[in-house]
Amino acid sequence: MSPIIVGPLVAAGLSAFLALVIALIDRVVNDYGEVTIDINGGKRSYTVRGGSPLLGTLAAEGLFVPSACGGRGSCGACKVRVLSDVGPHLPTEMPYLNPEEVSQNVRLSCQIKLKKNIDIELPEELFSVKKFSSTVESIRELTYDIKEVLFKLDEPKAIEFVAGQYIQIVVPPYGEIKESVQRAYSMSSRPRDDGHVELLVRLVPGGIATTWVHKYLKVGQKVELVGPFGDFQVHDTPAAMLCVAGGSGMAPFKSMFYEMKENNSFPDKEIWYFFGARTTRDMFYLDELRQLEKDWPRFHFVAALSEPKADEAWQGDTGLITDVLDKYIKEKIGKDKGLEGYLCGSPGMINACINVMTKNGVAERDIYFDKFA
Ligand SMILES: Cc1cc2nc3c(=O)[nH]c(=O)nc-3n(C[C@H](O)[C@H](O)[C@H](O)COP(=O)(O)OP(=O)(O)OC[C@H]3O[C@@H](n4cnc5c(N)ncnc54)[C@H](O)[C@@H]3O)c2cc1C
Ligand code: FES
Repeated sequence: MSPIIVGPLVAAGLSAFLALVIALIDRVVNDYGEVTIDINGGKRSYTVRGGSPLLGTLAAEGLFVPSACGGRGSCGACKVRVLSDVGPHLPTEMPYLNPEEVSQNVRLSCQIKLKKNIDIELPEELFSVKKFSSTVESIRELTYDIKEVLFKLDEPKAIEFVAGQYIQIVVPPYGEIKESVQRAYSMSSRPRDDGHVELLVRLVPGGIATTWVHKYLKVGQKVELVGPFGDFQVHDTPAAMLCVAGGSGMAPFKSMFYEMKENNSFPDKEIWYFFGARTTRDMFYLDELRQLEKDWPRFHFVAALSEPKADEAWQGDTGLITDVLDKYIKEKIGKDKGLEGYLCGSPGMINACINVMTKNGVAERDIYFDKFA
């Protein structure tokens, strides 16, 4: 055989051999065997195969820690306190942890790999989080980029939640997307409608879950949901609620308002709802909310356009929602029972509203929010 042919054959054989050795070393080195996860001082315990991130390993056992980004380390939702030694914090965890959390060894469960037995602490309400199946009952276009999706639960009463909480949609692989992902969406339906879950989903260009919802999801399709999660909910105090949303940030408020009205819950609370949009193209549920305002004296609805077009017939407020909020707090809203902030939408809008509220005397500890990022 000529050396011209032998040379490449030897090289190919060598690299195949090296690949085999690397694969074998990887299997031996990364074989952590069985490890035990001990939760809340022995209240729950799982013996599992080591080597995978804590978040996914717990999910495989039916215990769902929140994960708004599906384990990519970009939401900070999957925090757990680890009581045993799992090594120092990773650079990917640090942006989501405050100094107190770092000192308590709070970790992002999607970032820590299970290599040995581990002791963790979890809020007990996570024990009742479930994965359940549903069928898409309707899909309605609210604006050019927001869809209202109604899921009928395959098993009625499969989920019990408090108005304001969110669920995670399990997005199956589709098109170029080869792995299933989960994303968080606030429930816009009322808890008392125990046969359905409704979500408002805004299309993020190039986004995995929202492209699937907007372009692939069809009525009649089966969808898995995981939840409920979150502590965004109405607080039982007499303080007036200053609620601010933009876009699909409407979702948890829709659930809260209709639930409060139907149950006459928190009867001492006045509710001020500020909804900001750029133009009328971005507005939705206007008629429903104006009707709610007529039917329910303690509910006040303020819709504002920041960039109204000259030819738009717009009767409401204009300007940035932060400026409108500032004006109303200063001039129109009674403060005798105190004020609380409730915010939902983009991080930028939320931070700007917190700024306006605190400058007007609302204590930061009385401002609650869900950042959609
Ligand atoms: C507690 C919670 C509740 C939420 N509730 C809702 C809800 O009710 N309705 C809703 O529409 N969304 C909601 N979100 C946001 C939602 O979970 C997803 O992050 C969002 O829909 C984008 O998912 P994706 O898979 O399409 O985009 P990805 O594939 O995750 O992201 C694609 C790209 O877009 C960027 N990106 C991600 N999210 C946004 C965003 N919101 N705006 C602009 N760019 C973004 C990413 O950084 C990335 O570069 C919520 C988020 C949280 C944490
Ligand atoms: S799941 Fe989002 S950071 Fe861990």
